[in-house]
Amino acid sequence: MPLRLVLLGPPGAGKGTQAKRLCDRFGLIALSSGDILRAEIREGSEVGKKASQYVSAGTLVPDDVITAVMLVGIDKVPAGKGFILDGFPRTVPQAESLEQGFRSRGVAIAAVLDFNMDDRDIVQRIVNRRSCGKCNAVYNVAFLPPKQPDICDVCGSALVQRVDDREDVVTTRLKTYRAQTAPLVEFYRGRGLLRRIDASASADAVEAAARKIVESIGA
Ligand code: AP5
Repeated sequence: MPLRLVLLGPPGAGKGTQAKRLCDRFGLIALSSGDILRAEIREGSEVGKKASQYVSAGTLVPDDVITAVMLVGIDKVPAGKGFILDGFPRTVPQAESLEQGFRSRGVAIAAVLDFNMDDRDIVQRIVNRRSCGKCNAVYNVAFLPPKQPDICDVCGSALVQRVDDREDVVTTRLKTYRAQTAPLVEFYRGRGLLRRIDASASADAVEAAARKIVESIGA
């Protein structure tokens, strides 16, 4: 059965970094709600216009907007292919809508990987993050730098800093996470799907822990 995973955890905990590694290793497709919203904002689409103010401020885009966008993304995944939801769901209503959407499609989540990390370390990761505006590859000038400064290793484009990676916005994002997303830990624990990961370790160590979990559920 195709593997369907959810990555849960605070901003900057390394969900996107590990989604990429797990997709490469297990042949999955990554559906990052943040990447999808940023692409919509760049294109100036209706969704992008609705989302822009929330993303820049570090607050959540309305549940109905993001849920519709993500279900469209899920329906585009080729039949028989597994996927990773990175950054979605982020509220209990989103998780309930996803559950309903999955039920009507006859599919289910295999596991929710819960990335745990202290807020202080998160800020250091985020303010040092640089992203490729073209292919979405992610680097960190302190911990995981590109081979050439400010140039993407994958596609050679210029690296940029996200508008929501300023320290003041990061503080809002962390508060938003603790208030609105952290309740999903109990939601998924109650369903027997939650698998905890220490996200403060090195990227290779986190990857090894995540791989072990995925292998244990039968990938
Ligand atoms: P989104 O893009 O999803 O942001 P996020 O959840 O805040 O997560 P990040 O992308 O900041 O971090 P990450 O955990 O992926 O870490 P990364 O791997 O990059 O969302 C942005 C906005 O969109 C939201 O604020 C909201 O407005 C909106 N939105 C999105 N989804 C929504 C939803 N479902 N509902 C409503 N609104 C929604 O790593 C971080 C840095 O650390 C990088 O520099 C990386 O190189 C480095 N790093 C990674 N792992 C390690 C490691 N182990 N050691 C050292 N450095 C590491």
